[in-house]
Amino acid sequence: MAILVTGGLGYIGSHTVVELINNGFEVVIVDDLSNSERFILNNIEEIAGKKPVFYPFDLKRRELLTQVFDAHKIEGCINFAASKAVGESQVKPVDYYENNLFSLINILQEFKERGISNFIFSSSCTVYGQADKMPIDENTPLKMPESVYGKTKQMGEEILIDFAKAYNRKISLLRYFNPIGAHPSGKLGELPLGVPNNLIPYVTQTAAGIREKLSIWGDDYDTEDGTAIRDYIYVVDLAKAHVSALKKLLQSSDEPVIDIFNLGTGKGSSVLDVVKAFETANDVKVSYQICPRREGDITIAYANADKAEKELHWKSETSLEESLRTVWKWQEYLDSRNN
Ligand code: NAD
Ligand code: WQD
Repeated sequence: MAILVTGGLGYIGSHTVVELINNGFEVVIVDDLSNSERFILNNIEEIAGKKPVFYPFDLKRRELLTQVFDAHKIEGCINFAASKAVGESQVKPVDYYENNLFSLINILQEFKERGISNFIFSSSCTVYGQADKMPIDENTPLKMPESVYGKTKQMGEEILIDFAKAYNRKISLLRYFNPIGAHPSGKLGELPLGVPNNLIPYVTQTAAGIREKLSIWGDDYDTEDGTAIRDYIYVVDLAKAHVSALKKLLQSSDEPVIDIFNLGTGKGSSVLDVVKAFETANDVKVSYQICPRREGDITIAYANADKAEKELHWKSETSLEESLRTVWKWQEYLDSRNN
């Protein structure tokens, strides 16, 4: 029996594949390399001691996906594959709906036809928008996200809930807060294409001298230091939560199961907290300037992750500083590959 991991060479997917192998699962990866690179497969093998089966194709190609299901006994799927750049999703909405939803539906067609259950979906705290109350638990009302990217996550959740109910299947919707960090080996991490939009890659590239200055988007928020607050969750901790969520589905004899979990640390950190923690962790300086707020940004979001602790026996273990040390190690590794 194998677990299909789509987007398994991507940032969160690659870390999760390592944890799945460590836990004895057979892994089959489908990734079209649209936002990842082949060397990650070798690094997974180096870290986990086993090379997963890998198919390089686009999940929108249903006929190729059917062949994978014919070739392997798939007992579940963790679906990471998606396009994820918020800004890009606003200018390429049709491409985002197509990639994120057609891929999902193609897998669900295979699941439906073959009677397979156990589907884990990468959702996001973006489905809550700016919540009225902190911390955010799973009962916090959802708000239709402003971005097309966010909408694909909310729609994906709805599609999966209908799927579980209609066909009596088991699903888990994992709402990540802000994933950060890299593998402690320094050999897996986030590969930002071009100029990064997200905070941690921008901070890292500034410290490395690739970017001149970090722009801090706004210091006039209603927070202690005026900068916006997020819940930064270490990617290896996040990867482990997927294994726990999968085991819970596999062990459950109920049908349907509709699990929903917030995955965060439960602690909010401001942009300035992140800059300071990065500087302390790595003994480097990050130059920055204060700029106007970025359009679409919210003031504050951090998780109440008690439900995951209670039901998945999982909680975040790694400090912000420790996570940020691994990011620097990953940057050094990327530099060494480029030289
Ligand atoms: P990523 O871009 O690093 O990984 C996604 C992988 O999917 C890439 O390797 C890409 O090549 C592959 N892919 C994309 N479309 C595909 C397709 N049609 N067919 C086959 N492969 C395809 O992204 P990530 O940061 O690892 O995110 C993984 C998932 O988690 C995504 O669904 C993302 O929306 C979600 N998520 C990410 C964050 C975050 O901040 N990183 C936060 C919340 C949710
Ligand atoms: C964090 C904070 C910025 C860059 C996005 C998506 C969300 C989720 C995670 C997938 C904010 C500030 C950033 C910079 C800055 N992805 N910042 N200067 O916006 O919380 O969430 O990624 O689901 O859907 O919207 O993350 O890392 O972009 O920003 O000051 O150069 O850092 O304003 O307060 P965000 P982020």
